[in-house]
Amino acid sequence: MASLFKKKSVTQLLKESKSETFSKTLGAFDLTILGIGAIIGTGVLVLTGLVAARDAGPAVIFSFIIAAVVCGFAALCYAEIASTLPVSGSVYTYSYVTIGEFVAHLMGWTLLSVYILTASAVASGWTGYFYNLVSGFGLEIPKALLTIPSQGGIVNLPAVIITLVLTWLLSRGMKESKRVNNAMVLVKIGIVVLFIAVGAFYVKPENWVPFAPYGLSGILAGGATVFFAFLGFDALATSAEEVKNPQRDLPIGIIASLAVCTIIYIAVCLVMTGMVSYKELNVPEAMAYALEAVGQNKVAGVIAVGAVIGIMAVIFAYIYAATRVFFAMSRDGLLPEFFAKISKKTGAPTFSTWLTGIGSAFIAGFVDLKELSNLANIGALLTFSMVGVSVIILRKTHPNLQRGFKVPLVPVLPIISIACCLFLMINLPLTTWMYFSVWLAIGVCVYFAYSKKKAVISDDKRLEIKKAE
Ligand code: ALA
Repeated sequence: MASLFKKKSVTQLLKESKSETFSKTLGAFDLTILGIGAIIGTGVLVLTGLVAARDAGPAVIFSFIIAAVVCGFAALCYAEIASTLPVSGSVYTYSYVTIGEFVAHLMGWTLLSVYILTASAVASGWTGYFYNLVSGFGLEIPKALLTIPSQGGIVNLPAVIITLVLTWLLSRGMKESKRVNNAMVLVKIGIVVLFIAVGAFYVKPENWVPFAPYGLSGILAGGATVFFAFLGFDALATSAEEVKNPQRDLPIGIIASLAVCTIIYIAVCLVMTGMVSYKELNVPEAMAYALEAVGQNKVAGVIAVGAVIGIMAVIFAYIYAATRVFFAMSRDGLLPEFFAKISKKTGAPTFSTWLTGIGSAFIAGFVDLKELSNLANIGALLTFSMVGVSVIILRKTHPNLQRGFKVPLVPVLPIISIACCLFLMINLPLTTWMYFSVWLAIGVCVYFAYSKKKAVISDDKRLEIKKAE
């Protein structure tokens, strides 16, 4: 029983993070760009339209505001803990330090589902813009090969293919360079700003009436879904070991990237629902669609190109993130060694990269985008609440650690953050809860059948493994 609560030592972790071989190259500005790069994707480009049409109507703007507030509280907690424990592994490591092995295992397990499903959801959303683009060149893809079975098709083939291609690149050891990432972020911000700037001239206020056709429950359900659009700022915490001055830069990066995206998203909601009736937005490429509806076909084309390129970077980032979690858990013995095995030739963890990629591709090919994003959200919300819990515990157990950023009013604010996350979770559909419970139950079985016996909590042993790597 005691082993369930075996913890990692804070001092040892901090020592390891300082002696790590990662070169410390990232500053606050790089982090903000990195954050925006991981945040802007399928969420704003695709879900805004779907949620406006199916859940919230023009009041989708409030869905976004609610999600932004929830993320804002969580971001403050992330900022404190990432600036206190600038180590890799994010919430997996935080819970290993504050609660213990069993919860850490479940958090790692949850992070895996979040990253794999996010990659699938983003790929699934990519198809809409890809189709828009190729059909602009007169190329027709049969509908059955674009649509999942539950919507009358066979498979979302472009999503499967793009995921596998990106997986192949990753398995070749290709890492997204800072320069490519910066270019991608510029493309993404560029197309969103272009949409706002052009679309604003076509806004007709009568399209905002009725404002909230599905009432408060629609707005809340929408909030729980569009929460997906904000995922990504949390990933900054995982790059802690590569940051020059994590105590100062991480809080700035986390909070600034979230703030910039919130402002952009609110403008997108206003413009999109003002351009066409919300009822028409039930399409997978809402931004391009709205522009075409007002006769701006050329701008729509530019946006489709930008979206196709920009969204790829998000898929890439999440497959990579999942392999990092596999790596961390396997290094600690919670998963078999081959998950962390690095290919000598490519420098990439081949097995976990392909496992993640094939899994994501398969899911993207057959499951609905909204279901996928809801599933990613429920896991992410659970990990966000765990960050709040970790802040409270760490303040009690290690009050004197150096904290680059401190959440005000502890424990009140982290408790509000946890409550907000739970509230959004409650607004997710029952099926999402069912699938997520099954995933967690499998995680529990894996823990008791394997991980509990194999965990190498002893720091000496861990360091030995690390040296041997
Ligand atoms: N926030 C990311 C997106 O919207 C996951 O694609």
